[in-house]
Amino acid sequence: MQTRWMDMTSGIPQDEMEEAGEIIREGGLVAFPTETVYGLGGNALDPQASMKIYSAKGRPSDNPLIVHIAELKDLYPIVADVPESALKLAEAFWPGPLTMIMNRSQLVPVQTTGGLDTVAVRMPSHEVARELIRAGGGYIAAPSANTSGRPSPTKASHVKEDLDGRIDAIIDGGDVGIGLESTIVDLTEDIPVVLRPGYISLEMLQDVLPHVQMDRAFLTRDAAARPKAPGMKYRHYAPKAQMTIVEGDSADVIRTIRRAVSRDLQAGKRVGIIAGADSAAQYPEGTVVTAGDRQEEITIAMHLYGILRDFDEIGVDVIYSEAFDTPQLGGAIMNRLIKAAGHQIIQADTSEEGL
Ligand code: TXA
Ligand code: MG
Repeated sequence: MQTRWMDMTSGIPQDEMEEAGEIIREGGLVAFPTETVYGLGGNALDPQASMKIYSAKGRPSDNPLIVHIAELKDLYPIVADVPESALKLAEAFWPGPLTMIMNRSQLVPVQTTGGLDTVAVRMPSHEVARELIRAGGGYIAAPSANTSGRPSPTKASHVKEDLDGRIDAIIDGGDVGIGLESTIVDLTEDIPVVLRPGYISLEMLQDVLPHVQMDRAFLTRDAAARPKAPGMKYRHYAPKAQMTIVEGDSADVIRTIRRAVSRDLQAGKRVGIIAGADSAAQYPEGTVVTAGDRQEEITIAMHLYGILRDFDEIGVDVIYSEAFDTPQLGGAIMNRLIKAAGHQIIQADTSEEGL
């Protein structure tokens, strides 16, 4: 299949958007930008389109898709009973990077929800996404537009790397603004629960619904803890290299990583380092990449997945990353980083000996 490239980096040509919408309405797949990551879109109400999404991504079909809408009124036909809490959260955070899980109506095929009786719904704020949803008939199922197991795409070129020749079109809308997938909150139980941390933090949600909680699986860093969102159990975001996160005071972290890098280089390994802007210059050896500035957390979120992809391209054997426990986005950033590292996280050595 020839994948069409639609450039919408400097405006949305109406005829091209109409063609993209037609592809969706006819059951095809179009990758498109959102404010979080690029999505791989198909008609959410068409079971065949959902099956195509699973197969293009190589994704297990028991892992449900998020249904994207552009208008609040479009929520009602796909949800069995819209809870009051959903309307409050929508008022505060939609359009934006928040996904809500509710009980689905019969209109939503089980293929889209991975066999569940619930449905995940999000109203993105990215203008290209909103126009595509409207042009495509109102309901677009879209997982992140990566091959299953690779980091989510934050640029159209990432989508091309993974899905060229497997989908009908890719809309290039430039780099995304956030770089981490949406926050997911489950509204189907008595107490709303955050199933995936994201840009919308627990504190922001609690300002609207004071009793929201984190999924208990996040309160432990235990790899065996079972999150409720089916997708959170798979090994995700994984770079090819073996990755280790080092936690602790900055000086200890730098010293610990430097020692490990020297040792690995001597053993003939190719080594990558992910550092904050404040400490990147402290690493004399290895391939150092600056994730971003701890004072501007969003820069770290935006760069993270691209860095993991770049290291795959460069072909390093091991990666050491500083921890990024920043105040607002730290929870979401560390959640992704810990998964990329396959839960390999160590405490920095506090002793100066052996330097
Ligand atoms: O930011 C985002 O949410 C992006 C953009 C494209 O909108 N989409 C995205 O989709 O990250 P995906 O498929 O990569 O992740 C969806 C997550 C998976 O972990 C899935 O298991 C969970 O949402 N999910 C979807 N429907 C669910 C449901 N009914 N119950 C529990 N978890 C659900
Ligand atoms: Mg994904």
